[in-house]
Amino acid sequence: MPSLPQTSTPAPNTQAPSRRAFLRIAGGGVVLAASAAGVAAFTLGAGIPPEAVQAWNGPSADEADPRRWALSYALLAPHSHNLQSWIADLSEPAAITLRCDLQRLLPETDPQSRQIMMSHGGFIELLVMAAAARGQRAEVTWFPQGEFDAQRIDTRPVAHVRLHPQAGISPDPLFAQVLRRHTNRLPYAPQAPGAEAIRAILAELNAPGMRGGVVTQPASLPAHRALAREAWRIEMVTPAAVMESTRWLRVGPREIAQHRDGLSINQPMLRVINAVGLLDRSKPPAPDGSVVARQLADFDELIAATPAFLWLVSQAAGRGAQIAAGRAYVRAQLAATAQGLHMHPLSQALQEYPQQAEPYRQAHALMGAREGEVVQMWARLGQGPAIGPSPRRGLAALLA
Ligand SMILES: Cc1cc2nc3c(=O)[nH]c(=O)nc-3n(C[C@H](O)[C@H](O)[C@H](O)COP(=O)(O)O)c2cc1C
Repeated sequence: MPSLPQTSTPAPNTQAPSRRAFLRIAGGGVVLAASAAGVAAFTLGAGIPPEAVQAWNGPSADEADPRRWALSYALLAPHSHNLQSWIADLSEPAAITLRCDLQRLLPETDPQSRQIMMSHGGFIELLVMAAAARGQRAEVTWFPQGEFDAQRIDTRPVAHVRLHPQAGISPDPLFAQVLRRHTNRLPYAPQAPGAEAIRAILAELNAPGMRGGVVTQPASLPAHRALAREAWRIEMVTPAAVMESTRWLRVGPREIAQHRDGLSINQPMLRVINAVGLLDRSKPPAPDGSVVARQLADFDELIAATPAFLWLVSQAAGRGAQIAAGRAYVRAQLAATAQGLHMHPLSQALQEYPQQAEPYRQAHALMGAREGEVVQMWARLGQGPAIGPSPRRGLAALLA
């Protein structure tokens, strides 16, 4: 999945710079793509509309329904392309049925909806933590009407959650990080994460059925960097992949506030160009043109400013493994947040569309995945500049 700028207050989280805009100006074929430095400068200075990030204030203090309270935290989970494909049905007392919004998928770059399932795993993980913080034990039944097949997901529930009040239930220490966790796509400081931080992250990645690692050795970094760059290049020159991301672009405060999802771009120049109707989102930039060249150069800079890579392999394929991977990933990201570290997924080489077949093979070899195992996550890890939250649609948008 490609990457573009995304924004907010106090230091907005743009889908930048590896979520850079593939933007053309109508008639001229000129595209503006901010440099990493440009995005950082802008994001420190300006905000996205407060209503777009209102959800990050958490539920209101007088929320009486523990389900709604817990859901208000769950919807802060990371989601591929910030699609927020979660639908929560509260029609059964004391229970939540989670389904996937089939209008919010990425059929080109996530053809089997693997990343969508991971995003649902992360959602339930935060839901369980929030419920515990509210004195409720969450009893989760996954795929209560049967598991989706390997190729496609459908309208059957992903999970059924029943809440039981439980006096003295232990809070999850990671819950304190939920409002502070943000995907950080800016350059990271050169220092590798310390041993204690890596231990804390690995403790979450190495969940049952999962194996995780953090790569910091200088001799190992070039192979990760080279693969990330090549997979990114392929994504940039694959028109269907680029156009899929373009569909989820939200440019400027009006679009960001209206949708509160997707890949937000709030750079002043792009806003002006968009406002006067000159932004052309109807076709991708030429693969051999200056726009793609600039995006590749920016991505190179970003990858160079990466002192560590994190990987997560599931020992099996299938929907259960994808859910478990999403849970482990969000927990690892929360653990990193507690250590003052940031993460930025690099999904391109893990994606199942044909153009990525060779990077996919290489990623599985590089991360030591054996026959039958799946690399579910690969991410930059390090200490980035402070960054704010990305938009959320809020609870009402999720309720069936
Ligand atoms: C399964 C999965 C895959 C993701 N892949 C990418 C990616 O390739 N590049 C990227 O910049 N962000 C990626 N993300 C991060 C999302 O874009 C991010 O979670 C979303 O925009 C919301 O922002 P937040 O995490 O700051 O709340 C991924 C997230 C998940 C859960």
